[in-house]
Amino acid sequence: MFKHQKEKKDFVQQKFSSVSAKYDLLNSLLSLGIDRSWRNSTAKALDGCDSGPILDLCAGTLPLSRVLHNRLKSRVIGLDFCYDMLAYGQKRLTSEERKAITPICGDGEALPFKNSVFAGATVAFGVRNLGNIEKGISELHRVLKPGGKLAILEFSRPQNPIFAPFYRFYLHKILPATGGAVSGDKAAYIYLAESIEAFMAPEALCDLLRVHGFQGVGYRPMTMGIVTLYTAVRP
Ligand SMILES: C[S@@+](CC[C@H](N)C(=O)[O-])C[C@H]1O[C@@H](n2cnc3c(N)ncnc32)[C@H](O)[C@@H]1O
Repeated sequence: MFKHQKEKKDFVQQKFSSVSAKYDLLNSLLSLGIDRSWRNSTAKALDGCDSGPILDLCAGTLPLSRVLHNRLKSRVIGLDFCYDMLAYGQKRLTSEERKAITPICGDGEALPFKNSVFAGATVAFGVRNLGNIEKGISELHRVLKPGGKLAILEFSRPQNPIFAPFYRFYLHKILPATGGAVSGDKAAYIYLAESIEAFMAPEALCDLLRVHGFQGVGYRPMTMGIVTLYTAVRP
């Protein structure tokens, strides 16, 4: 899809900037509101990390940062390289959330943090968008404390032979048409469908996590395998 990592990063940054104002609305619309329960399950995977701080990588408009803070009551750093996504999300934080959630504009492949500082880390719908996923995973491992938990939520491809063709029709026809009409940027939603099709299988992502030093790696498909929740621990 992209010749160079830089080309993908520039495209991704520009597309999220372009759809930032409609991102949350489209998420709810296109997932029929199920995205909330996916993020709740992701935050639940970090239970026990209450001492904080928690890193929410590829935080976008901060939906998961909010769920994390409201569940764990810890300090949350929401990092994203798209300023417009963070700015749009920050506007909607309550005054209490503003005190606990810090948005930082930065690159997930070169995190601006010292080693071993976070009790937990999450990435929701972000690893698929990284220019270099290995760099991102290695950075997550570096900034987690020993014993720190990682939870990754990402789209996957349903395997049920009856459901899969309907989902692919939705992905390639309904999603770009609706996303394009509401956001005004159809290319962003064509990219979404293509990047889901091209993304690695769950077992391959688990192998990558192990190669980069994570232990206790596991995954759980949710909603017929439309998304998968990965969990791991930095030993
Ligand atoms: C699909 S959004 C996910 C937002 C949010 N986590 C959620 O649950 O809806 C993916 C986000 O990843 C960000 N992103 C992609 N590559 C990144 C990178 N290298 N560093 C930081 N953020 C990145 C994009 O800017 C975008 O906001």
